[in-house]
Amino acid sequence: MEIIKVANAEEGGKKTFELIKEGMSNGAKVLGLATGSTPETLYKEMTASDLDFSEMTSVNLDEYVGLGGEDDQSYRYFMNDQLFNKKPFKNTYVPNGKAEDLAAECKHYEGIIDDNPIDIQILGIGQNGHIGFNEPGTPLDSLTHVVELTESTINANKRNFEKVEDVPTRAVSMGIGSIMKGKKMILMAYGSAKADAIKGMIDGPVSVDLPASALQNHSDVVVIIDEEAASKL
Ligand code: F6R
Repeated sequence: MEIIKVANAEEGGKKTFELIKEGMSNGAKVLGLATGSTPETLYKEMTASDLDFSEMTSVNLDEYVGLGGEDDQSYRYFMNDQLFNKKPFKNTYVPNGKAEDLAAECKHYEGIIDDNPIDIQILGIGQNGHIGFNEPGTPLDSLTHVVELTESTINANKRNFEKVEDVPTRAVSMGIGSIMKGKKMILMAYGSAKADAIKGMIDGPVSVDLPASALQNHSDVVVIIDEEAASKL
């Protein structure tokens, strides 16, 4: 893993943007994208740039079960608002959280990933080491699946909802195996709340107890972190 330390999330967004730009000039056509607060500075850089994404495809990591693009807490809404409405892509994929048959949706989404191999996968990390919504205990070879969210993740995400009862308890998420299919991984983390997860991801054993540790088995991983997230290394 290549570790790049940055002063703050703004600098991290700029650095990640540079890597995406470089990847695109070398032929990258598919970006794997994440939601949450971590990639917001990256999306600001992308929307402020004059880079053209109209020939690019994006594949998002996850979506809450029960929410659609019209719900402002859905990840589809977040992506449209933060990025796609300002920078049109050729195709943008986010799992359909309102699919009636969720098992079929998971299979369909994994097919989308196989048909659109991800050149650069953008990742954040949960305080418990999750990537996507793959909570501790998720098999490292898992494909797109329905996830029961843990209490820690529901609490971490409640800031976007009026009350904690409104946070969906399930999500459709790319599996760890689906994520690992990507050619290059860029994981960003900022703040002291991520320090333990970053330490475990880099120095700990590869274990289902800390899903991001699976990245130790990937040959091209860049970790972009601030001093606080790096404080336990
Ligand atoms: C988001 C995602 C999650 C987040 C993680 C960190 O699509 O898959 O794994 O990256 O929960 O969230 P933030 O960035 O809000 O701290």
